Amino acid sequence: MKKPLTRLFFLLCSAAVLVVAGCSRKADAPAGAAAPQAVKIGFLVKQPEEPWFQLEWRFADQAAKDLGFALVKTGATDGEKVLSAIDNLAAAGAQGFVICTPDTRLGPAIAAKAKATGLKLISVDDQFIGADGQPMTTVHHLGISAGKIGENVGETLAAEMKKRGWTSADTGVCVVTFDELATASERTNGAIKALTAAGVPKERMFKAPQRTSDIPGAFDAVNVLLTQQPGVKHWLICGMNDSAVLGAVRALEGRGFGPDTAVGIGINGTDCIVELEKEKPTAFFGSMLLSAKSHGYQTSEMMYKWIKDGVEPPMDSRTVGVLITRENFRQVLKDQGIRS
Ligand code: GLA
Repeated sequence: MKKPLTRLFFLLCSAAVLVVAGCSRKADAPAGAAAPQAVKIGFLVKQPEEPWFQLEWRFADQAAKDLGFALVKTGATDGEKVLSAIDNLAAAGAQGFVICTPDTRLGPAIAAKAKATGLKLISVDDQFIGADGQPMTTVHHLGISAGKIGENVGETLAAEMKKRGWTSADTGVCVVTFDELATASERTNGAIKALTAAGVPKERMFKAPQRTSDIPGAFDAVNVLLTQQPGVKHWLICGMNDSAVLGAVRALEGRGFGPDTAVGIGINGTDCIVELEKEKPTAFFGSMLLSAKSHGYQTSEMMYKWIKDGVEPPMDSRTVGVLITRENFRQVLKDQGIRS
């Protein structure tokens, strides 16, 4: 049995420990206050099956890991899915989300929903269209310099036509269009503008409107065009992205066209890697590689800093593209962290 004095000493020591512990707890988190909320961010994309969007997610995941926030990825392929995903994010305690919407005309509904649920919002890739039919400049956005990149496609096609010694008389331009999406029409109009400046007459440009913005949509559209234009000997191909040009290349192959008689240049550079890796060249000549890292990592980082530190992102950011072909694609993809 301990002596009374020793007991008192032990009691005093224990009390001191408790007081110190209490004080330090107070300094960390005052009694009654909630612990700081963990940052949770949603990332919604319209076409989760496309490599472009998978890469955006991969880079967003990297940002989540580097910065230490939770990322919720959702494939939101229609308006209903978008709106319920926003409700789910709010219920799960998220503070914001990045979205490439399946339909830009949903913009006002998405912005209203974000406001009602108190979630911060950044649109990526496809800019929202307001009730007045104009881009919604009130929503923070990161997209591509679509017109400029389209012009680069047109300039490259014109240079390839010249290199091959093809003339306007025997060459047609197959323009795979998807005009309901502003970033798509800006790209194809940019290509038409540059081809016109290079001397290709308007009447040698043929539009093939896609019903859906994927490979089958382009394939069907171009098959209709090829039936209407059986006399064209050489084809130059452009479209809103790699899928549009890949669909066109497949349709042209069905009519006997190949790399000697057709040249296609895509946009994205991420959905054509398998095509460029094929042992034998196809009519898919190259692509304007966009920065999936900026679209996935940077948008998530901007959202994180906005939530955590109150740093508002720029209202409108635009990214550029660089040409990749069979010659350089391996190195460029490696440099950009897309392929190891
Ligand atoms: C649109 C297209 C995608 C990609 C992005 C780039 O969303 O559908 O394939 O080109 O733009 O911003």
